[in-house]
Amino acid sequence: MNLSCFTGYEEHLTICGMTTLTQQQWIYRRQPAGQITAEHYQLVEQQLSTALGDGEVLIEARWFSVDPYMRIGQSSKPTYDTEPHPLNTVQQGAVVAQVLASNAGGFAIGDWVQSYTGWQTHARVHASGLKRIDPELAPVTTALGVLGMPGRTAWFGLTESGKPHAGEVVVVSGAAGAVGSLVVQFAKRHGARVLGIAGGAAKCDWLRIVLDADWAIDYKAYADADTLGAEIKRLTGGVDVYFDNVGGMVTDAIIPLINRRARIVICGQISQYSGGLETPELGPRLLHHMLYQRATIQGMLARDYLHRMDEMIHIVAPWVKAGEIVFEETVIDGFAQLPSALNSLFTGEHRGKLLVKA
Ligand SMILES: NC(=O)c1ccc[n+]([C@@H]2O[C@H](COP(=O)([O-])OP(=O)(O)OC[C@H]3O[C@@H](n4cnc5c(N)ncnc54)[C@H](OP(=O)(O)O)[C@@H]3O)[C@@H](O)[C@H]2O)c1
Repeated sequence: MNLSCFTGYEEHLTICGMTTLTQQQWIYRRQPAGQITAEHYQLVEQQLSTALGDGEVLIEARWFSVDPYMRIGQSSKPTYDTEPHPLNTVQQGAVVAQVLASNAGGFAIGDWVQSYTGWQTHARVHASGLKRIDPELAPVTTALGVLGMPGRTAWFGLTESGKPHAGEVVVVSGAAGAVGSLVVQFAKRHGARVLGIAGGAAKCDWLRIVLDADWAIDYKAYADADTLGAEIKRLTGGVDVYFDNVGGMVTDAIIPLINRRARIVICGQISQYSGGLETPELGPRLLHHMLYQRATIQGMLARDYLHRMDEMIHIVAPWVKAGEIVFEETVIDGFAQLPSALNSLFTGEHRGKLLVKA
């Protein structure tokens, strides 16, 4: 067997002499109704064999992605085109990792890879489940953000479903988050006038000053959809493209303001994920506006554009390299923090992409 041995990092100097290493995993144990607490996940530790089969690679996760879809998968009903996340299994999710040992051509010790091995510190993976990351292109963490799934969502959601034209008004909810902050910037690059909606004055200042949004509104400062809608109307006059990440009151405020042939992109409904997906809102009550304005409403899923990932990277990576795109990351330190990091998506404490560092 042509197994390479890891010698590059102090903490693993002895791996070639070892037949196992200590692996930690976060196991998803119980379905939450609201916030995630200690009863929903369990941290387990076990020995992982380092013996590799043909084509296998041993990786150690360095960065974990924390994403709202994880909470969608905890709904009791099927969502997207998948069943709920199975109980008593490792929490699924994307990671950026390094190769510790390899029995696969094309992967060498120390290589950076992206994988979908979830919330576990180490994994043996078949090489077909790994995507190589070029650390020269951009910081490796961008594989989980602007050059990864959130970037793909923002780019194709905006350009394929939103189809913004120069001068049009694009409104983005969840605008200071991983996807939203990129949609704001991509829409500006299309010459649109952009309103970002986010929670808190600090996020709104960031949207205006750093991301160059034309306007920003703190939705938390409004008691209801009517008063929020009145302010959006005053600022923009009307909405041509609505990129919806949050649903709920914010969306209620915007739909009555759509212009003729507006495009509404349903990317996410995060305001509904902590229990609201079980008892859906009465959606059709606002759909008469679609009729009046001959508007289009379209759900979009990043997964449908997986085969066009290279196209997005070809366009966006040069902007990243040239420093023309802000791709802020909020980093929480420590594998042990993963469940509480997932909760923090819903309290809105982070800006840009939320990551956990191993
Ligand atoms: N369709 C797809 O393929 C796809 C792919 C990726 C993501 N998404 C969706 O896109 C949305 C954003 O995802 P992301 O990864 O970029 O996450 P994110 O925006 O970085 O983080 C979530 C943010 O949502 C906001 N939020 C939380 N609860 C809210 C509520 N009740 N009302 C209004 N805003 C709330 C918070 O910001 P504030 O402080 O501003 O409230 C929070 O920071 C999510 O709905 C996600 O499910 C969809």
